[in-house]
Amino acid sequence: MLIRKPPDIRSYEITSETNYVNRRQFLRTSALAGGSLLAGSALSAIVPDSPMAELPGVIAGGYSTTEAPNSVEDIVTYNNYYEFGTGKSDPVNNSQDFKPRPWTIEVAGHADITGTFDIEDFIKPHILEERIYRMRCVEAWSMVIPWVGIPLVDVIKRFKPTSAAKFVRFETLHDPARMPGQRRGSLQWPYREGLTIAEATNPLPLLVVGLYGHALPNQNGAPIRLVVPWKYGFKGIKGIVKMSFESRQPVSSWQMAASHEYGFYANVNPNVAHPRWSQARERRIGAGFFAEKQATLMFNGYGEQVAHLYAGLDLRRNF
Ligand code: MTE
Repeated sequence: MLIRKPPDIRSYEITSETNYVNRRQFLRTSALAGGSLLAGSALSAIVPDSPMAELPGVIAGGYSTTEAPNSVEDIVTYNNYYEFGTGKSDPVNNSQDFKPRPWTIEVAGHADITGTFDIEDFIKPHILEERIYRMRCVEAWSMVIPWVGIPLVDVIKRFKPTSAAKFVRFETLHDPARMPGQRRGSLQWPYREGLTIAEATNPLPLLVVGLYGHALPNQNGAPIRLVVPWKYGFKGIKGIVKMSFESRQPVSSWQMAASHEYGFYANVNPNVAHPRWSQARERRIGAGFFAEKQATLMFNGYGEQVAHLYAGLDLRRNF
């Protein structure tokens, strides 16, 4: 992964924590609140041309951390999305003309139901949940993000994978005219990722369509991306156009780029260093210039939900 020293991001709170907590309380009583409107106007102040519509019918899902979420500004301006450039501010600067509609998702491979679905039909059968997850990038920075999405397990059940389906593979849109970073060879395109079927049917992975109660901004992976909170952020493939049920372990874009540095599992693990840096600690974006780095947690703190998936597996070899 390209590592550049990021410019220090000054974090001024656009959505104060008080407003945000208020909004969660409203969500709990299944109404949308003034707090989310505030977040919405903050979003459009940062990215004025984006259609960041408020998402209706969002319920508060489980598994949310009680840690304070990052500000909207942090989440939508400090990104990795190489299809729009390799710098942290390239995605926000270069993705604003991208049109995430119309959009289709192809479902293929070992499943009873396959085909190409319009994104609205893909999402419609499901209830949108808000889940506040920790996000740990392999580059040793982290954030806390209030995502809105649908549990991947529910989507998978709907397509009825057969017993031959051992893995789920995902692919990003491949269209250099719309994604200018694909004209450069920073990665092999399209971006691709995968999970074992056991990982994909764990309750935690989310197919994300929004954040802070609003439709996902382009730079965060509109219209739909994956979030797997116990794995390094690069597993969270953005701009998904294809999901396929495979019998063989898929190869991810980062494995193709540097297999000795980025493995298939990519579980957050403070005990296994990246060949070029330690993974023991992380820098929380927005914590301030003088803030100390914090300890990275095994499985990013989600061990209770996922450690059993790796019983007997040597996590040093299977990094
Ligand atoms: N998905 C695609 N298609 N292209 C990318 O370059 N970057 C990954 C992941 N998903 C990436 C991607 C990396 S390295 C990280 S850390 C996360 O997206 C960042 O997500 P965020 O920008 O929403 O925080």
